[in-house]
Amino acid sequence: MAYTVSKLTDYSAAALEKAAAECLRACADESAGVGSDAELKTFRDRWVGRKSGMLTQINDLWLKGAPKNAKREAGIRVNELKTRIQELVERARVVHVDSASAAGERVDISLPGVHRPIGAEHPVIKTSREMVAIFQRLGYSVAEGPVVETDYYNFESLNFPPNHPARDTQDTLFIAGQQAKAQRDRLLLRTHTSPVQIRTMEKMRPPIRIVIPGIVHRNDPPDASHSPMFHQIEGLAVDTNITFGDLKGTLDHAMKEFFGSSVKTSFRPSFFPFTEPSAELFISCIICGGSGKRGPDDAPCRPCKKTGWIEILGCGMVDPNVFEFVKDNGYDPKKVSGFAFGMGADRIALLKYGVDDLQLFFQGDVRFLRQFA
Ligand code: PHE
Repeated sequence: MAYTVSKLTDYSAAALEKAAAECLRACADESAGVGSDAELKTFRDRWVGRKSGMLTQINDLWLKGAPKNAKREAGIRVNELKTRIQELVERARVVHVDSASAAGERVDISLPGVHRPIGAEHPVIKTSREMVAIFQRLGYSVAEGPVVETDYYNFESLNFPPNHPARDTQDTLFIAGQQAKAQRDRLLLRTHTSPVQIRTMEKMRPPIRIVIPGIVHRNDPPDASHSPMFHQIEGLAVDTNITFGDLKGTLDHAMKEFFGSSVKTSFRPSFFPFTEPSAELFISCIICGGSGKRGPDDAPCRPCKKTGWIEILGCGMVDPNVFEFVKDNGYDPKKVSGFAFGMGADRIALLKYGVDDLQLFFQGDVRFLRQFA
Protein backbone atom coordinates (compact mmCIF):
# COMPACT_ATOMS: atom_id res chain seq x y z
CA MET A 1 0.00 0.00 0.00
CA ALA A 2 1.24 3.49 -0.80
CA TYR A 3 2.84 5.39 2.02
CA THR A 4 0.82 8.12 3.72
CA VAL A 5 1.85 10.57 6.41
CA SER A 6 0.04 9.83 9.63
CA LYS A 7 -0.44 12.07 12.61
CA LEU A 8 2.15 11.71 15.37
CA THR A 9 1.09 11.21 18.95
CA ASP A 10 4.36 10.05 20.44
CA TYR A 11 7.05 12.71 20.16
CA SER A 12 9.82 10.79 21.88
CA ALA A 13 13.17 10.64 20.09
CA ALA A 14 12.71 6.97 19.32
CA ALA A 15 9.24 7.48 17.83
CA LEU A 16 10.41 10.39 15.68
CA GLU A 17 13.34 8.35 14.47
CA LYS A 18 11.08 5.47 13.51
CA ALA A 19 8.58 7.67 11.66
CA ALA A 20 11.35 9.45 9.74
CA ALA A 21 13.02 6.17 8.75
CA GLU A 22 9.74 4.77 7.52
CA CYS A 23 9.05 7.84 5.45
CA LEU A 24 12.53 7.87 3.92
CA ARG A 25 12.33 4.18 3.04
CA ALA A 26 9.03 4.75 1.26
CA CYS A 27 10.48 7.64 -0.70
CA ALA A 28 13.57 5.63 -1.69
CA ASP A 29 11.43 2.68 -2.80
CA GLU A 30 9.24 4.89 -4.94
CA SER A 31 12.19 6.66 -6.51
CA ALA A 32 13.46 3.30 -7.77
CA GLY A 33 10.27 2.89 -9.78
CA VAL A 34 10.68 6.10 -11.82
CA GLY A 35 11.03 5.15 -15.49
CA SER A 36 9.45 7.81 -17.66
CA ASP A 37 9.14 11.58 -17.70
CA ALA A 38 5.56 11.30 -16.49
CA GLU A 39 6.55 9.04 -13.60
CA LEU A 40 9.29 11.41 -12.59
CA LYS A 41 6.79 14.24 -12.48
CA THR A 42 4.29 12.25 -10.45
CA PHE A 43 7.00 11.19 -8.03
CA ARG A 44 8.27 14.71 -7.63
CA ASP A 45 4.79 16.19 -7.13
CA ARG A 46 3.88 13.52 -4.61
CA TRP A 47 6.94 14.18 -2.44
CA VAL A 48 7.89 17.80 -2.82
CA GLY A 49 4.82 19.37 -4.46
CA ARG A 50 4.02 22.68 -2.76
CA LYS A 51 0.34 22.13 -2.12
CA SER A 52 -0.05 18.62 -0.80
CA GLY A 53 3.30 16.91 -1.24
CA MET A 54 4.58 14.69 1.55
CA LEU A 55 6.91 17.42 2.82
CA THR A 56 4.03 19.82 3.22
CA GLN A 57 2.00 17.18 5.00
CA ILE A 58 4.85 16.34 7.34
CA ASN A 59 5.09 20.01 8.17
CA ASP A 60 1.38 20.17 8.95
CA LEU A 61 0.92 16.83 10.70
CA TRP A 62 4.18 16.46 12.61
CA LEU A 63 5.45 19.93 13.25
CA LYS A 64 2.34 22.00 13.72
CA GLY A 65 0.83 19.29 15.94
CA ALA A 66 3.90 18.98 18.16
CA PRO A 67 3.54 19.87 21.87
CA LYS A 68 5.51 22.93 22.89
CA ASN A 69 8.33 21.13 24.64
CA ALA A 70 8.89 18.76 21.71
CA LYS A 71 8.77 21.43 18.97
CA ARG A 72 12.50 22.07 18.84
CA GLU A 73 13.55 18.45 18.61
CA ALA A 74 10.82 17.69 16.07
CA GLY A 75 11.88 20.71 14.00
CA ILE A 76 15.45 19.47 13.76
CA ARG A 77 14.29 15.97 12.75
CA VAL A 78 11.87 17.22 10.16
CA ASN A 79 14.50 19.47 8.60
CA GLU A 80 16.89 16.53 8.29
CA LEU A 81 14.17 14.48 6.72
CA LYS A 82 13.34 17.26 4.27
CA THR A 83 16.93 17.49 3.11
CA ARG A 84 17.15 13.74 2.60
CA ILE A 85 13.90 13.62 0.64
CA GLN A 86 14.95 16.53 -1.56
CA GLU A 87 18.19 14.67 -2.25
CA LEU A 88 16.27 11.55 -3.23
CA VAL A 89 14.07 13.52 -5.60
CA GLU A 90 17.06 15.25 -7.19
CA ARG A 91 18.92 11.94 -7.53
CA ALA A 92 15.89 10.37 -9.21
CA ARG A 93 15.87 13.24 -11.71
CA VAL A 94 19.58 12.96 -12.51
CA VAL A 95 19.43 9.17 -12.86
CA HIS A 96 16.39 9.46 -15.09
CA VAL A 97 17.90 12.10 -17.37
CA ASP A 98 21.12 10.07 -17.65
CA SER A 99 19.45 6.84 -18.52
CA ALA A 100 17.08 8.54 -20.92
CA SER A 101 19.92 10.13 -22.86
CA ALA A 102 21.98 6.94 -22.67
CA ALA A 103 19.05 5.12 -24.25
CA GLY A 104 18.98 7.80 -26.96
CA GLU A 105 15.43 8.74 -26.14
CA ARG A 106 15.83 12.45 -25.79
CA VAL A 107 18.38 13.73 -28.24
CA ASP A 108 17.40 13.67 -31.88
CA ILE A 109 20.51 14.95 -33.62
CA SER A 110 18.67 15.37 -36.89
CA LEU A 111 16.69 18.26 -35.40
CA PRO A 112 18.03 21.78 -35.97
CA GLY A 113 20.30 22.87 -33.10
CA VAL A 114 19.91 25.88 -30.84
CA HIS A 115 21.11 28.86 -32.83
CA ARG A 116 23.47 31.05 -30.83
CA PRO A 117 24.12 34.42 -32.48
CA ILE A 118 27.88 34.88 -32.51
CA GLY A 119 27.74 38.63 -32.00
CA ALA A 120 29.85 41.29 -33.64
CA GLU A 121 32.65 43.59 -32.70
CA HIS A 122 31.47 46.65 -30.77
CA PRO A 123 31.80 49.82 -32.87
CA VAL A 124 34.09 51.49 -30.31
CA ILE A 125 36.41 48.48 -30.10
CA LYS A 126 36.36 48.19 -33.88
CA THR A 127 37.32 51.86 -34.20
CA SER A 128 40.07 51.43 -31.67
CA ARG A 129 41.49 48.38 -33.42
CA GLU A 130 41.43 50.09 -36.80
CA MET A 131 43.28 53.10 -35.42
CA VAL A 132 45.82 50.91 -33.61
CA ALA A 133 46.38 48.96 -36.84
CA ILE A 134 47.23 52.17 -38.69
CA PHE A 135 50.03 52.86 -36.21
CA GLN A 136 51.17 49.25 -36.22
CA ARG A 137 51.68 49.57 -39.96
CA LEU A 138 53.94 52.55 -39.20
CA GLY A 139 56.07 50.31 -36.96
CA TYR A 140 54.46 51.12 -33.61
CA SER A 141 53.97 48.33 -31.08
CA VAL A 142 51.04 48.04 -28.66
CA ALA A 143 51.47 48.74 -24.94
CA GLU A 144 48.92 48.51 -22.16
CA GLY A 145 48.70 49.46 -18.50
CA PRO A 146 46.42 49.20 -15.46
CA VAL A 147 43.06 50.98 -15.26
CA VAL A 148 43.45 51.39 -11.47
CA GLU A 149 46.49 53.63 -11.35
CA THR A 150 48.56 55.46 -8.76
CA ASP A 151 48.57 59.21 -8.37
CA TYR A 152 52.24 59.07 -9.38
CA TYR A 153 51.72 57.60 -12.84
CA ASN A 154 48.44 59.35 -13.63
CA PHE A 155 49.54 62.81 -12.51
CA GLU A 156 52.87 63.43 -10.80
CA SER A 157 55.22 61.86 -13.35
CA LEU A 158 53.26 63.57 -16.11
CA ASN A 159 54.24 66.92 -14.66
CA PHE A 160 51.00 67.58 -12.75
CA PRO A 161 52.57 68.45 -9.34
CA PRO A 162 50.52 67.64 -6.20
CA ASN A 163 47.77 70.23 -5.70
CA HIS A 164 48.51 71.88 -9.04
CA PRO A 165 45.37 73.40 -10.60
CA ALA A 166 46.09 71.56 -13.88
CA ARG A 167 44.67 68.49 -12.12
CA ASP A 168 41.24 70.15 -12.20
CA THR A 169 41.09 69.57 -15.95
CA GLN A 170 40.61 65.85 -15.35
CA ASP A 171 37.89 65.29 -12.77
CA THR A 172 39.00 62.05 -11.19
CA LEU A 173 37.36 59.06 -9.50
CA PHE A 174 39.41 58.08 -6.46
CA ILE A 175 39.57 54.69 -4.77
CA ALA A 176 38.28 55.01 -1.19
CA GLY A 177 40.36 54.47 1.93
CA GLN A 178 43.76 55.59 0.56
CA GLN A 179 44.37 58.43 3.00
CA ALA A 180 46.95 56.51 5.02
CA LYS A 181 49.23 56.24 1.97
CA ALA A 182 51.64 58.85 0.67
CA GLN A 183 49.89 60.91 -2.00
CA ARG A 184 51.88 59.45 -4.90
CA ASP A 185 50.86 55.90 -3.96
CA ARG A 186 47.14 56.58 -3.66
CA LEU A 187 44.97 54.72 -6.15
CA LEU A 188 42.53 56.20 -8.60
CA LEU A 189 40.88 55.27 -11.88
CA ARG A 190 43.21 56.55 -14.57
CA THR A 191 41.81 59.62 -16.30
CA HIS A 192 43.83 59.06 -19.47
CA THR A 193 46.11 56.47 -21.06
CA SER A 194 49.13 58.78 -20.67
CA PRO A 195 50.42 56.99 -17.52
CA VAL A 196 51.37 54.12 -19.82
CA GLN A 197 53.90 56.48 -21.44
CA ILE A 198 55.94 56.57 -18.22
CA ARG A 199 55.34 52.91 -17.40
CA THR A 200 56.67 51.90 -20.81
CA MET A 201 59.66 54.24 -20.70
CA GLU A 202 60.61 52.73 -17.32
CA LYS A 203 60.78 49.32 -18.98
CA MET A 204 62.07 50.06 -22.50
CA ARG A 205 65.01 52.19 -23.47
CA PRO A 206 64.74 54.59 -26.42
CA PRO A 207 64.04 54.56 -29.27
CA ILE A 208 60.38 53.62 -28.78
CA ARG A 209 57.20 53.90 -30.79
CA ILE A 210 54.12 52.70 -28.96
CA VAL A 211 50.37 52.93 -29.32
CA ILE A 212 48.23 52.42 -26.21
CA PRO A 213 44.53 51.56 -26.38
CA GLY A 214 42.55 51.43 -23.13
CA ILE A 215 39.68 52.34 -20.87
CA VAL A 216 39.74 55.54 -18.81
CA HIS A 217 37.36 57.12 -16.29
CA ARG A 218 36.38 60.64 -15.34
CA ASN A 219 33.91 62.03 -12.87
CA ASP A 220 31.53 63.22 -15.61
CA PRO A 221 27.79 62.52 -15.54
CA PRO A 222 26.66 60.64 -18.64
CA ASP A 223 25.05 62.64 -21.46
CA ALA A 224 25.05 62.64 -25.27
CA SER A 225 28.76 63.50 -25.42
CA HIS A 226 30.13 62.43 -21.99
CA SER A 227 30.53 59.16 -20.16
CA PRO A 228 32.23 58.34 -16.85
CA MET A 229 34.00 55.53 -18.73
CA PHE A 230 35.41 55.92 -22.21
CA HIS A 231 38.19 54.68 -24.47
CA GLN A 232 41.42 56.35 -25.48
CA ILE A 233 44.21 55.63 -27.91
CA GLU A 234 47.54 57.09 -26.92
CA GLY A 235 50.73 57.29 -28.92
CA LEU A 236 54.34 57.95 -28.00
CA ALA A 237 57.45 58.17 -30.15
CA VAL A 238 60.87 58.91 -28.64
CA ASP A 239 64.20 58.95 -30.45
CA THR A 240 67.00 61.37 -31.21
CA ASN A 241 65.91 64.36 -33.31
CA ILE A 242 62.16 63.79 -33.27
CA THR A 243 60.53 67.07 -34.30
CA PHE A 244 57.11 68.67 -34.39
CA GLY A 245 57.23 68.02 -38.13
CA ASP A 246 57.31 64.28 -37.40
CA LEU A 247 54.28 64.68 -35.17
CA LYS A 248 52.36 66.57 -37.85
CA GLY A 249 53.26 64.16 -40.63
CA THR A 250 52.41 61.10 -38.57
CA LEU A 251 49.02 62.36 -37.44
CA ASP A 252 48.11 63.76 -40.84
CA HIS A 253 48.84 60.36 -42.34
CA ALA A 254 46.82 58.55 -39.63
CA MET A 255 43.78 60.80 -40.13
CA LYS A 256 43.84 60.31 -43.91
CA GLU A 257 44.16 56.57 -43.46
CA PHE A 258 41.25 56.48 -41.06
CA PHE A 259 38.80 59.03 -42.47
CA GLY A 260 39.82 59.03 -46.13
CA SER A 261 42.46 60.84 -48.17
CA SER A 262 40.41 64.02 -48.71
CA VAL A 263 40.44 64.92 -45.01
CA LYS A 264 42.54 67.95 -44.03
CA THR A 265 44.28 68.52 -40.70
CA SER A 266 44.93 71.68 -38.69
CA PHE A 267 47.02 72.04 -35.53
CA ARG A 268 46.10 74.73 -33.00
CA PRO A 269 48.01 75.70 -29.87
CA SER A 270 46.83 74.15 -26.62
CA PHE A 271 48.15 73.15 -23.21
CA PHE A 272 48.93 69.86 -21.50
CA PRO A 273 51.31 69.65 -18.54
CA PHE A 274 53.23 66.74 -20.11
CA THR A 275 53.78 68.19 -23.59
CA GLU A 276 55.47 71.42 -24.67
CA PRO A 277 54.50 72.80 -27.06
CA SER A 278 51.02 71.28 -27.04
CA ALA A 279 48.38 71.29 -29.74
CA GLU A 280 44.90 70.18 -30.57
CA LEU A 281 44.42 68.46 -33.88
CA PHE A 282 41.35 69.39 -35.90
CA ILE A 283 40.20 67.59 -39.03
CA SER A 284 38.02 69.07 -41.75
CA CYS A 285 34.43 68.06 -40.96
CA ILE A 286 33.74 64.68 -42.49
CA ILE A 287 30.00 65.42 -42.53
CA CYS A 288 29.95 68.72 -44.44
CA GLY A 289 33.38 68.41 -46.04
CA GLY A 290 34.55 71.58 -44.29
CA SER A 291 31.89 73.99 -45.57
CA GLY A 292 29.97 74.19 -42.29
CA LYS A 293 26.72 73.78 -44.23
CA ARG A 294 24.62 70.80 -45.21
CA GLY A 295 22.13 69.87 -47.87
CA PRO A 296 20.71 71.89 -50.78
CA ASP A 297 19.27 74.58 -48.47
CA ASP A 298 22.59 75.15 -46.64
CA ALA A 299 21.39 73.97 -43.23
CA PRO A 300 23.99 74.52 -40.48
CA CYS A 301 26.25 71.46 -39.94
CA ARG A 302 25.84 70.29 -36.36
CA PRO A 303 28.87 68.02 -35.73
CA CYS A 304 31.32 70.86 -36.54
CA LYS A 305 29.05 73.62 -35.20
CA LYS A 306 29.17 75.35 -38.60
CA THR A 307 32.97 75.81 -38.34
CA GLY A 308 33.95 73.13 -40.84
CA TRP A 309 36.49 71.72 -38.35
CA ILE A 310 36.25 69.03 -35.68
CA GLU A 311 38.62 68.63 -32.76
CA ILE A 312 39.95 65.11 -32.70
CA LEU A 313 42.85 64.81 -30.26
CA GLY A 314 45.43 66.39 -27.99
CA CYS A 315 49.15 66.14 -28.76
CA GLY A 316 52.54 67.75 -28.38
CA MET A 317 56.26 67.30 -27.88
CA VAL A 318 57.10 65.36 -24.71
CA ASP A 319 57.92 67.88 -21.97
CA PRO A 320 61.57 67.60 -20.75
CA ASN A 321 60.18 67.44 -17.17
CA VAL A 322 58.54 64.11 -18.07
CA PHE A 323 61.82 62.68 -19.34
CA GLU A 324 63.43 63.66 -16.01
CA PHE A 325 61.35 60.94 -14.30
CA VAL A 326 62.85 58.23 -16.57
CA LYS A 327 66.23 59.85 -17.21
CA ASP A 328 68.10 56.86 -15.74
CA ASN A 329 66.68 54.57 -18.39
CA GLY A 330 68.25 56.46 -21.26
CA TYR A 331 65.80 59.35 -21.58
CA ASP A 332 68.15 62.27 -21.08
CA PRO A 333 66.11 65.29 -22.24
CA LYS A 334 69.30 66.75 -23.69
CA LYS A 335 69.75 63.74 -25.95
CA VAL A 336 66.27 62.50 -26.86
CA SER A 337 63.04 64.12 -27.93
CA GLY A 338 59.62 62.77 -28.70
CA PHE A 339 55.99 63.41 -29.37
CA ALA A 340 52.80 62.08 -27.82
CA PHE A 341 49.13 62.20 -28.67
CA GLY A 342 45.88 60.96 -27.17
CA MET A 343 42.45 60.58 -28.74
CA GLY A 344 39.01 59.39 -27.66
CA ALA A 345 37.98 56.24 -29.51
CA ASP A 346 34.31 56.73 -28.59
CA ARG A 347 34.20 60.22 -30.08
CA ILE A 348 35.88 59.03 -33.24
CA ALA A 349 33.40 56.17 -33.51
CA LEU A 350 30.52 58.68 -33.08
CA LEU A 351 31.89 60.70 -35.97
CA LYS A 352 32.72 57.79 -38.20
CA TYR A 353 29.30 56.17 -37.88
CA GLY A 354 27.25 59.36 -37.58
CA VAL A 355 25.83 58.41 -34.17
CA ASP A 356 24.37 61.35 -32.23
CA ASP A 357 24.30 59.98 -28.67
CA LEU A 358 27.36 58.51 -26.94
CA GLN A 359 25.15 56.61 -24.48
CA LEU A 360 23.99 54.32 -27.29
CA PHE A 361 27.45 52.74 -27.23
CA PHE A 362 27.08 51.66 -23.62
CA GLN A 363 23.45 50.59 -23.31
CA GLY A 364 23.95 47.20 -24.95
CA ASP A 365 20.78 47.44 -27.05
CA VAL A 366 21.15 44.69 -29.64
CA ARG A 367 18.98 46.59 -32.13
CA PHE A 368 21.57 49.37 -32.13
CA LEU A 369 24.64 47.14 -32.10
CA ARG A 370 23.35 44.85 -34.84
CA GLN A 371 23.74 47.70 -37.34
CA PHE A 372 27.52 47.46 -37.05
CA ALA A 373 27.70 43.72 -37.60
N1 PHE B 1 46.03 62.67 -22.08
C1 PHE B 1 45.42 63.80 -22.71
C2 PHE B 1 43.93 63.81 -22.37
O1 PHE B 1 43.40 62.82 -21.99
C3 PHE B 1 45.62 63.77 -24.21
C4 PHE B 1 47.05 63.88 -24.63
C5 PHE B 1 47.83 62.76 -24.76
C6 PHE B 1 47.60 65.13 -24.88
C7 PHE B 1 49.17 62.87 -25.14
C8 PHE B 1 48.92 65.26 -25.27
C9 PHE B 1 49.69 64.13 -25.41
O2 PHE B 1 43.28 64.84 -22.48
